[in-house]
Parts: sequence; C-alpha cells; structure tokens
Amino acid sequence: MKLFLDTANLDEIREGATWGVFDGVTTNPSLIAKEGRDFVDTIYQIANIIDGPVSAETVAQDAPTMIKEGRLLAKVHRNVVVKVPLTVAGIQCCKALADDGIRVNVTLCFQPAQALYAAKVGATFISPFVGRLDDVSEDGMDLISRIVKIYQNYPNLKTEVLAASIRHPMHIVQSALAGAHVTTAPLKVYKQLFSHPLTDKGNVAFLKDWETVPDRDIIGQVERWLAART
Ligand code: G3P
Repeated sequence: MKLFLDTANLDEIREGATWGVFDGVTTNPSLIAKEGRDFVDTIYQIANIIDGPVSAETVAQDAPTMIKEGRLLAKVHRNVVVKVPLTVAGIQCCKALADDGIRVNVTLCFQPAQALYAAKVGATFISPFVGRLDDVSEDGMDLISRIVKIYQNYPNLKTEVLAASIRHPMHIVQSALAGAHVTTAPLKVYKQLFSHPLTDKGNVAFLKDWETVPDRDIIGQVERWLAART
C-alpha cells in the first residue's frame, strides 16, 4: 500500500521524507490556506521533496475553468496530480484531463456510486473520506471496502482507492486490510504508527542487557575484526 502525506506543511514533508516510506503528498484548499504561502510555489516545492504524486486541487466550479486550472497545474511539475471534487463539473474535468494524459485525483467521495463515476472517466485516484463519515456516525471504512470490491468486479477500471480523511493508525491498518491502494494522513498519525509500548519496553531491555557485554563498541569491534583479517 502506498503512503501519502496529507499536508502542505513543507517542514512536515521534509521530516517525513527522511523516513523513506512516503510515496506522495495530498493537499487541498484548506491545507494550503493553513500554511499562508503561495499555492503554486508550495506545490512545486513539495514535488521536489517527495518524488511521487502530489495532489493540487482546483477551485473553479465550472468545468471549462476547472479544466484550464488543471491543465496549468499539471505544467508546474511532472509529479502534480490534479485534484477535483466529485461534482458534475469535476467529473467533466476529470474526463478532459485524463484524455490529455493528466493524472487526476477525484476527491470528496462519500458513497460508492460516486467512485464508479470517477473510474469511468479515467481518474487515477478516488479519495473516499473515511474520517468525515465516522465523524457523523457512518462507517467510513465500509465505504473503502465497498469501493475496492466494486473495482475488483470490473478489472477494466484502473482507478486506485486513496483512503483519505484518516484520523488514527487503525484507519491505516483497516485501509490496508480492505485493499486500499493508498492512504493519505497527517504526519502525526504516521508518527503514532511507530508506537507500541512493548517495542519501547523491549528496546530498553535489550540495551540494559547489552550493558553487561564487555566490549559494547560494535563499530570499533568490527573494524578491528576486519583489520585482523586483511
Ligand atoms: O486532504 C483530503 C482529506 O484527507 C482531508 O481530510 O477530514 O482531515 O480534512 P480531513
């Protein structure tokens, strides 16, 4: 499963890039507004930090203008994926951009039939919002499972399920179990993925036992061992 960072914060993306696990980044107008920086330059900088799909969202509400926005955004960097909302104009835009060979992430998906439309017009990604459904006492992960199943029923559909609006580590685990192709989440959620008390406890115990070893300097010991054999 691909892991994308859901943020426009360059410091968070730089920190995440050091882990070597992230395959892309998703942004949206709210995440961009939160940073208070130039939109296009932010997208360009993100695309130069993480060498993978970087979602940049259109904001026009009519298809012709949305298409123009998308075609221009795609020129900013080869990693740019144009993000459009799951509306009539968004689907019309997705069709036009996909026909141009431009990758599209269709976002704000909240029910399975919407995902069919996105796949029919050649979307690269569909973004079902898990957390926002959970927030209103619906089963967001069930939406992921149903879309994965629908797409599996029709192998000609090439759209990847990008589980979005991820609130906690179990959403990531459950997305992987459901067969999502991608999850996108804030860095803080991915930091939680590292954590387990038994990992921390086990590491402390290993280090405590290692303290009883006479020569604890692995680097020096291996260098001397190798030198004695050359
Ligand atoms: O960026 C798309 C999606 O992941 C945003 O989700 O609910 O955290 O705003 P949310």
